Amino acid sequence: MTGEVIESRISEILYSEETIQARVKELGKKIADDYSVGGLACDVQGRPPLLICILHGALVFLADLVRQIPTEVEFDFICVASYGNGTSPGAVRLIKDLERPIEGRDALLVEDIIDTGDTIDYLMRSFAARRPASLRVCALLDKVARRETPVHIDYTGFVLEQDKFIVGYGMDYAELYRNLPYIAVLKPEYIR
Ligand code: PRP
Repeated sequence: MTGEVIESRISEILYSEETIQARVKELGKKIADDYSVGGLACDVQGRPPLLICILHGALVFLADLVRQIPTEVEFDFICVASYGNGTSPGAVRLIKDLERPIEGRDALLVEDIIDTGDTIDYLMRSFAARRPASLRVCALLDKVARRETPVHIDYTGFVLEQDKFIVGYGMDYAELYRNLPYIAVLKPEYIR
């Protein structure tokens, strides 16, 4: 599919590349300030915050976010999936775990979008049991209209009031469109 074909499938750009990059820069600065020495960081060993990227959607956001954090930072990756058996739609399972322990660390979960809230709720519960020094959430998009499970988001990029199916900047439809530098709505005829 050429770039022209992809663009012809977009009905509306909700967040342009410039808008996203400006907001990511603000988030990076806020995170750096919060986790600086004497700030909110709780790791008694003084290790840098560990950003946990929730694959696959958050990959693009994480890549930009860490480059807007001028202080020391580490990152690691997890992958989750819904059971999707039709009987327990909220059930989430970890299909790729972290490569290192988070006990005593300042852990920050990085999401592209929080929708029903089930994924982040599951991760907050299961990761809290690993006894990090602190555990917070950074999400580029908070799709409030779809929330079923209440969650606290410490750092939010944008609040999306409308319940629209969106793609781009890491978010996909059938694994496509993740590489778009903006966030957009697909024309309904291209959603089966
Ligand atoms: C998306 C998104 C979040 C989750 C949010 O992931 O990246 O992880 O859904 O939805 P929730 O709040 O309803 O749990 P998705 O399952 O589409 O996988 P992906 O990240 O690989 O695209």
